[in-house]
Amino acid sequence: MNTHKAHCLILPFPGQGHINPMLQFSKRLQSKRVKITIATTKHFLKTMQELSTSVSIEAISDGYDDGGFHQAENFVAYITRFKEVGSDTLSQLIKKLANSDCPVNCIVYDPFLPWAVEVAKQFGLFSAAFFTQNCVVDNLYYHVHKGVIKLPPTQNDEEILIPGFQSSIDASDAPSFVISPEAERIVEMLANQFSNLDKVDCVLINSFYELEKEVTDWMSKIYPIKTIGPTIPSMYLDKRLHDDKEYGLSVFKPMTNECLNWLNHQPINSVVYVSFGSITKLGDEQMEELAWGLKNSNKSFLWVVRSNEESKLPNNFIEELKVEKGLVVSWCPQLQVLEHESIGCFLTHCGWNSTLEAISLGVPMVAMPQWSDQPMNAKLVKDVWEVGVRAKQDEKGIVRREVIEECIKLVMEEDKGKLIRENAKKWKEIARNVVGEGGSSDKNIEEFVSKLVTIS
Ligand code: UDX
Repeated sequence: MNTHKAHCLILPFPGQGHINPMLQFSKRLQSKRVKITIATTKHFLKTMQELSTSVSIEAISDGYDDGGFHQAENFVAYITRFKEVGSDTLSQLIKKLANSDCPVNCIVYDPFLPWAVEVAKQFGLFSAAFFTQNCVVDNLYYHVHKGVIKLPPTQNDEEILIPGFQSSIDASDAPSFVISPEAERIVEMLANQFSNLDKVDCVLINSFYELEKEVTDWMSKIYPIKTIGPTIPSMYLDKRLHDDKEYGLSVFKPMTNECLNWLNHQPINSVVYVSFGSITKLGDEQMEELAWGLKNSNKSFLWVVRSNEESKLPNNFIEELKVEKGLVVSWCPQLQVLEHESIGCFLTHCGWNSTLEAISLGVPMVAMPQWSDQPMNAKLVKDVWEVGVRAKQDEKGIVRREVIEECIKLVMEEDKGKLIRENAKKWKEIARNVVGEGGSSDKNIEEFVSKLVTIS
């Protein structure tokens, strides 16, 4: 007998930073008796190392089944072909699932793939856009889409006013695409996220209300916004989901035992955790400065250097320092690491998932943003939520070793960093409450499910 209240087809953009939050959201829906099917590309499915999840997964095609994005000539070509082939294969999947005991009645899609709305309409399905980035960043792209924010600013130090956000920002804080004239087509794609948003039934944002009250209220006047984050497995927050032991779908294989065994031998709050996420690449010079900054800080460190970045480490770096003070791994179970009592700070690129994970697990940050939304997230971390410092780049765009050393010490041990450490603890508590029963995100998810039930 079918005991499900509704069936959601979840369509993430095929990237680690996109699939993670949508999977965690799916698990929350599933716990409220919504059937979930995640639709991802054949190639992405093939690259997954960790495929441990309780939700069902089906393959569609982006038109590049052998190499995915890397097979395409460029990003725009990829997005264009994905629209053609993706629309078609997604429709076939919906038809296939129509024969099951619980046909699909809703599509939750990543707005990088706005064509999913047309597919939903064609089948008369409820549709919800799922923004994986925060509300301030989404709001900024919205104003680019509306032509209110004109691009690129004439000078790098020009201030940008984002309606709905409390203060103006420097152009250097804006997402990198916004200030780089070469990225015109990417900005077009990001602005396109809003091109048919007036047709969707709901807009879900991977953030939580308490974190971005003002801007969420402002955007709620335009779109039916629901903040549903932090999208972190229940085991780290409210612990309400019983089938939530696993982390999920990973393109990289985490060196779990090695990391955790090592951390278990480190004193409380003593370790700097360093990671730049799944895509960001550092230049050779930056890598060397970072290595020396870590060494000179005299702190223990756990540094994730993906295998395609390893050759940039200074000669003998691992041999000289590994035993003494640090551990370098190619990928780690980040949430388990952030939760570990030995971690004293997170030196991060400020990808939105990493930022939200650190906030939710109470880890203060040293922000070293590189591109995309990361500079904006770093600004929020430093100036709005005050849970970290930002390591300043020099005129060549490099963060020097002295700056790295200074930032780490400030966040981890100095009096000047006390407020940051206290704020980090405060946000951890808030994050736990928002997903707990009756919290702002929990209520929003409940309302979303109620809507689905009404239409099914
Ligand atoms: C990308 C963009 O770079 C980012 O700016 C945007 O906000 C989302 O898409 P990515 O660079 O991968 O994402 O960073 P992030 O958003 O932080 O996502 C990385 C994810 O990988 C996190 O969920 C993190 O927990 C996980 N991770 C990272 C691991 O599980 N292990 C690691 O060793 C490193």
